[in-house]
Amino acid sequence: MVRILFLHPDLGIGGAERLVVDAALALKERGHDVSFLTNHHDISHCFKETADGSFPVQVVGDWLPRRLFGRFYAFCAYVRMLYAAFYASFLMPQREQVDVVFCDLISVCVPVLRLARHRPRILFYCHFPDQLLSARNGGLLKRLYRAPLNWLEEHTIGQADKVLVNSKFTLRVFQDTFRRLSTVPDVLYPSLHTQYFDKMEHKLEQRSTLLEEPVHPRVPRNSFVYLDINRYERKKNHSLALHSLRLLGNMLPALDFKRCRLIIAGGYDSRCVENVEHFSELEQLVEELQLQDHVVLLRSPTDEEKCHLLFEAHCLLYTPENEHFGIVPLEGMYFSKPVVALNSGGPTETVVHTSTGFLCDPNEKSFGGAMYQLFRDEALRLKMGDLGKKRVQQKFSFEAFADRLSQVVQELLPKKQQ
Ligand SMILES: *[C@@H]1O[C@H](CO)[C@@H](O)[C@H](O)[C@H]1NC(C)=O
Repeated sequence: MVRILFLHPDLGIGGAERLVVDAALALKERGHDVSFLTNHHDISHCFKETADGSFPVQVVGDWLPRRLFGRFYAFCAYVRMLYAAFYASFLMPQREQVDVVFCDLISVCVPVLRLARHRPRILFYCHFPDQLLSARNGGLLKRLYRAPLNWLEEHTIGQADKVLVNSKFTLRVFQDTFRRLSTVPDVLYPSLHTQYFDKMEHKLEQRSTLLEEPVHPRVPRNSFVYLDINRYERKKNHSLALHSLRLLGNMLPALDFKRCRLIIAGGYDSRCVENVEHFSELEQLVEELQLQDHVVLLRSPTDEEKCHLLFEAHCLLYTPENEHFGIVPLEGMYFSKPVVALNSGGPTETVVHTSTGFLCDPNEKSFGGAMYQLFRDEALRLKMGDLGKKRVQQKFSFEAFADRLSQVVQELLPKKQQ
């Protein structure tokens, strides 16, 4: 048994959070002792496993500011994380000492963790280089502000005992970005906690034969449902799904299109300006494109609602370009749905073009064309769904993920402790 502490900035709802929660579940299932230390945890905006007592979760440093003068988010996040690392290293009671710290997103905590008297081994999971996430549209001042942070990121990642990345795509970006590092990360694909999905699917199968309950009041039973799950952020490009739906409407006979629905469901945090702004931008776009009767926008669905949506949908749309990994396509495939995604980034490693879905060019003609084909060809849609489920079971199973992660953690310890 290894004692593992997860150090994570904000245990909200997103791909990175899903990964750490799954990693924690996996390690717990393999008999390890798992706990969380975080800067922020809101019980009304988190994955249920972090709130239902599956693991102890301790919050420290939430009193530190999230931004200064309305900016410097990254700097503040670094300081908050440094505080958490300092807490883990020097203030945590002796009996809560851990063998391994699993950290992700912010690497500045690594050197502080190394200073602890009982020095834990440090595993860093890189979802994507942080500096590339904020590098866009930087003026000179922004670059001056980022330069030391970028330097720190590279040097502190290099101090971790082991680095994992979420896809081959991220590995390539990692190596291009951190040119001075000799560290060679391993790829550990995220997985799905399939037990949970199996349980939900079973429940939904029973329920759907009992009551003819629509997935949403504005989505009649006989609808053809396209589902687009992603946070309300501009870079996720939900507007591609909307434009493609408009094009689909122009291609299909009116009676057929009448049945088509697009449900956009995504994480929405009212503290996040972009979420709030982008949500209303999308509402406007729906009106401009005259798709009011066809589109439903849902905010922060619960895990159960999300499963219900995945269960009822006919096809999953995944719109971001150069996504680092993208867990949603796996979820769609596990629910036997064909996935329409873009031919870049992580989806090229999960979705198999013309077998489990379509990898499209980044324009509505290509994307809408795939949506059209899946509407028209039911046999193809069902076959792709089946192949998608098989692919997740074979290549992305939770068991394989848990075994591999448990092995990585054990290999970090000195021989006598293994
Ligand atoms: C969204 O998709 C459209 C069409 O492919 C593209 O022109 C646009 O640049 C994309 N926007 C973002 C933010 O990725």
